[in-house]
Amino acid sequence: MRKVIYPGTFDPVTNGHIDIVKRAIDLFDEVIVTVAKNPGKTPLFTTAERVEMLNESLKVYPQVHVDAFDGLVVDHAQEVGAVGIIRGLRAISDFEYEFQMALMNRKLNENMRTIFLMPHEKFTYLNSTIIRNLAQFKGDVSDFVPKIVEDKLKEKFGF
Ligand code: COA
Repeated sequence: MRKVIYPGTFDPVTNGHIDIVKRAIDLFDEVIVTVAKNPGKTPLFTTAERVEMLNESLKVYPQVHVDAFDGLVVDHAQEVGAVGIIRGLRAISDFEYEFQMALMNRKLNENMRTIFLMPHEKFTYLNSTIIRNLAQFKGDVSDFVPKIVEDKLKEKFGF
């Protein structure tokens, strides 16, 4: 039973994140999607809202479970019995930050592998900030996010 953890801020989850989850399902028996804390970010959605959107978007995949965690990702990964940490790499610009984080995580727990997966190229320009910006100006986000996220963004920005 090979389990991995896929941590992120998911503020909100996009189709690019879902693409990564699907690729992880092909490789592992269980994928735990963890809403984790990046101290440098002040999220638009609460942790509970982000967990709810992930749960709804991923409910068709029985091998996927969603949770939230406030501490170090390596500690949570160890706690849940994960063999590694999944991260998405969209472009070369992601590399330096991801490389640094992967090495720090390995320093913290040398048994914890980081596995990088690339989303489909149609998602390479997506991130959560651009989606929030688009929604703030009442732009159409339906091509980029699951339906529940579209609805929640509309509710948040009143359109
Ligand atoms: N499709 C679309 N967007 C994607 C994506 C994909 N496949 N992969 C990443 N992104 C986007 C995210 O939406 C996010 O966009 P934003 O910056 O506009 O919000 C950005 O790329 C980076 O995202 P994310 O994967 O959420 O990483 P993060 O940098 O916000 O958070 C944590 C990383 C939460 C995993 C990290 O801070 C962490 O591990 N925190 C816990 C403490 C810890 O263990 N730290 C490490 C050791 S010090």
